[in-house]
Amino acid sequence: NEQTVLDQLQRPLRDLRISVTDKCNFRCTYCMPAEIFGPDYPFLKRAELLSFEELERLTKIFVHSLGVKKIRITGGEPLMRKDIPQLIEKISQIDGVEDIAMTTNGSLLPKYATDLKKAGLQRVSVSLDSLKDEVFGKINGKGVTVQTVLDGINAAAEAGLKVKINMVVKRGMNEQDIVPMAKYFREKGHILRYIEYMDVGNSNQWKLDDVYSKKQIIEDIHAVMPLEAVAPNYTGETASRFKYVGSEDEIGVISSVSDAFCSTCNRARLSAEGKLYTCLFASVGHDLREPVRSELTDNQLSSHISDIWHGRKDRYSLDRSKLSGTRSKIEMSHIGG
Ligand code: GTP
Ligand code: 5AD
Ligand code: SF4
Ligand code: SF4
Repeated sequence: NEQTVLDQLQRPLRDLRISVTDKCNFRCTYCMPAEIFGPDYPFLKRAELLSFEELERLTKIFVHSLGVKKIRITGGEPLMRKDIPQLIEKISQIDGVEDIAMTTNGSLLPKYATDLKKAGLQRVSVSLDSLKDEVFGKINGKGVTVQTVLDGINAAAEAGLKVKINMVVKRGMNEQDIVPMAKYFREKGHILRYIEYMDVGNSNQWKLDDVYSKKQIIEDIHAVMPLEAVAPNYTGETASRFKYVGSEDEIGVISSVSDAFCSTCNRARLSAEGKLYTCLFASVGHDLREPVRSELTDNQLSSHISDIWHGRKDRYSLDRSKLSGTRSKIEMSHIGG
């Protein structure tokens, strides 16, 4: 009964990123600056969030009749939501889910890694932007130490989860950490992905000058440890892959700004309160909470979502120079990146 639904640019839907909370225990300067996300910030209330049962039902529809194969749990910080292993268990039991991963800041992994693995989680992507406490503590806005995140990474690896590391690179913030991070995680055996600083949301005062490009990142590493490009693992992969010459050790660069990858983008995003976003830079989401709480059947819900995807034209990163500054965008912490 699986049908492939194509959008206006002939892109299928394959990947569903589910945000389970808009809260986070960090205040990264480029994502949730503390001046804006303060004690009075109106985070979502419990009753506004989709329940695990609602998420399970929607995920089944996405997987069984809309072509989704890959699920990623995001936040805010997803492990701030109570009982997340229970949700993972429900989702991992859905027939047709080929890959289930989580994007996390790592701080709560020592507590949850074993339960997540038991529940069926396959992989985690842990964010870490520097190996120096002075730098990292400032970036995360809470003085969280590097060791806290390294403990999380180790806990995940010990629990048997596959681990990737995400490093946002911003000029003047942490470009001096590019090479030390490369060495450290090559040694550790985890794939490190460098992410160009993006203009997500409206809070981070993004400027093109702040972007440290893929080309510069690769040049910095190549000068010390020679790299060669390798082909993508699958169409629509966010990262361009590189290997250290003469080894199987790998890094990736996610270059949304200098080399956009919209033409193959097969990702949909569901916010914690049940809005479906067809682009990371969308200004409006399509509400699925009211429909999922109504009398609609699974088939009716499925054709509703299919219509949304079919109408999709998003290619923000390709059109950035034309669009940037002209629209109000959803916050990263609301949509999970
Ligand atoms: P894999 O499944 O391991 O390939 O991970 P992923 O790259 O799909 O997910 P992850 O959450 O680790 O994303 C890493 C970075 O890529 C984050 O900063 C995301 O915001 C960014 N990213 C992911 N998907 C998109 C996208 O569709 N568009 C843009 N512009 N950035 C994206
Ligand atoms: N630009 C690039 N990456 C970002 N992230 C959060 N905000 C930004 C931004 N403005 C990253 C996080 C995490 C992933 C989900 O997105 O650090 O690794
Ligand atoms: Fe939290 Fe991740 Fe945003 Fe940092 S980047 S504030 S850890 S959601
Ligand atoms: Fe997909 Fe939008 Fe990112 Fe382009 S900018 S890759 S369309 S989410």
